[in-house]
Amino acid sequence: MTSGIRTPRTPRRRLGALTATVAVVAATALAVLSATPAQAASPLRSLAEGKGKYFGTALTDGDLNISGEMAIANTQFDMVTPGNEMKWDTTEPSNGSYNFGPGDQIVNWAQAHNARVRGHNLVWHSQLPNWVSSLPLTQVQGVMESHITTEATHYKGKVYAWDVINEPFNEDGSLRQDVFYKAMGSGYLADAIRTAHTADPNAKLYINDYNIEGENAKSNALYTLAQQMLSQGVPLGGIGLEAHFIEGQLPSSMLANMQRFADLGLDVAITELDDRIQLPTSSATLQQQGNDYATVVNDCLAVTRCVGVSQWGVDDGHSWIPGTFPGYGAATMYDSNYQPKPAYNATVNALSAGGTTTGGTTTTGGTTSAGGTTGGTGGNCHVTYTKNEWAGGFTADVVVANTGTTSVNGWTLGFSFPGDQKVTNGWNATVTQSGNTVKATNVSYDSTIAPGGTVDFGFQGTWTSNDTSPGSFTLNGTACS
Ligand code: G3I
Repeated sequence: MTSGIRTPRTPRRRLGALTATVAVVAATALAVLSATPAQAASPLRSLAEGKGKYFGTALTDGDLNISGEMAIANTQFDMVTPGNEMKWDTTEPSNGSYNFGPGDQIVNWAQAHNARVRGHNLVWHSQLPNWVSSLPLTQVQGVMESHITTEATHYKGKVYAWDVINEPFNEDGSLRQDVFYKAMGSGYLADAIRTAHTADPNAKLYINDYNIEGENAKSNALYTLAQQMLSQGVPLGGIGLEAHFIEGQLPSSMLANMQRFADLGLDVAITELDDRIQLPTSSATLQQQGNDYATVVNDCLAVTRCVGVSQWGVDDGHSWIPGTFPGYGAATMYDSNYQPKPAYNATVNALSAGGTTTGGTTTTGGTTSAGGTTGGTGGNCHVTYTKNEWAGGFTADVVVANTGTTSVNGWTLGFSFPGDQKVTNGWNATVTQSGNTVKATNVSYDSTIAPGGTVDFGFQGTWTSNDTSPGSFTLNGTACS
């Protein structure tokens, strides 16, 4: 089965739409022209971490045995999405019979390489076993909830985020008439997210789709859905933009589109980036691909709540593109001989521009009332608390920077709410509340904060009359500056 991804319908990105971005892209293009691609001194993951983001890849179990691919993956990426190993046809091939072996192998790789895991996925019309699609409709909800609960519980504490719902929309913004929709109508979406949240309250829960990178009928429908979910208290945490692009055809509205989702208080992530080229490639198309990669990375860097970029696969030799789009290929940053391409150079340059980010910045625009506050004087930490609120609800993004010279190994951030906030769920930390006092403790994959490094966690909550942000913080009991 294939996902049926079609050519993006949005037009070529408009030059001049965003002066800063264009300037960086232009600089990148020059670098692409003048530099022979070679491995940079710093891996992509370190460069991304320096900006408070991650850089990921997709890996299959088969990839784990391919030394050329793993030589790259082992060093370059700090996030992994299993290519197929957590999908329903692998994890529950027959009713109630689960197989987590393949997915566990990917998790093992992640843990051995200090990488996060993006769980992919829990509910999708594709790679869905026939026994599910042929169920009597009255049984679908129970089966879906059992599947989500069992899988999300198995991976509890090991995944950073789940693509709870994958590719639910048609291109016109209507919902796919898959077995879940037929059984439950649109209510299956909230039910799936709530069920996943009950199983793993700390995982960030996403809806992931393709052709939603720009503003169009499909992303508009998703935006409306996300607004509705948040207003109903559904613990939706993020939007995954797959970003399966065609060289030279990135949507011009990608940055604005990402920002409007971020302004709802959601994370956004580039989850499956590739940029296919009509074969044979030329230096011009490879260079344009580099510009495209730089645009994607720069757009993510420009949106505080864009948490990171993942490429779909490691190299051109193992990409899904040629098998699905005959005549196209060369879609990744590395060629079939595992050599970095201009897209890699462009990515390095984009991640390297403008220095290192040591704290969050406040998002602007849209309908949110975002506000950043920083802590008082004290120890070797600095905290930026960025709030997005709406009537009765809010999300908070908290960036903790280690301003000292030694690693923080294991952390608890303490603070008090000045208002009547109540935390309902958190991500990247275990967040507990007693009265107005809140404690956020690291989870397994972000327990260390290197000197000069940061961790980023967040939570969602409710409030009634006062959502004033906390003004002081402690890290492991010592006040932060
Ligand atoms: O497991 C069978 C194997 O038993 C059989 O011999 C072989 C023969 O073709 O097929 C194997 O299944 C393949 C499966 O990957 C595992 O390798 C399927 O045919 C093949 O269609 C499937 O492709 C995957 C595709 O999703 C299915 O939609 C790709 O590897 C995977 O990269 C791709 O990933 C998706 C994301 O999950 C969602 N977004 C789009 C993205 C690209 O399509």
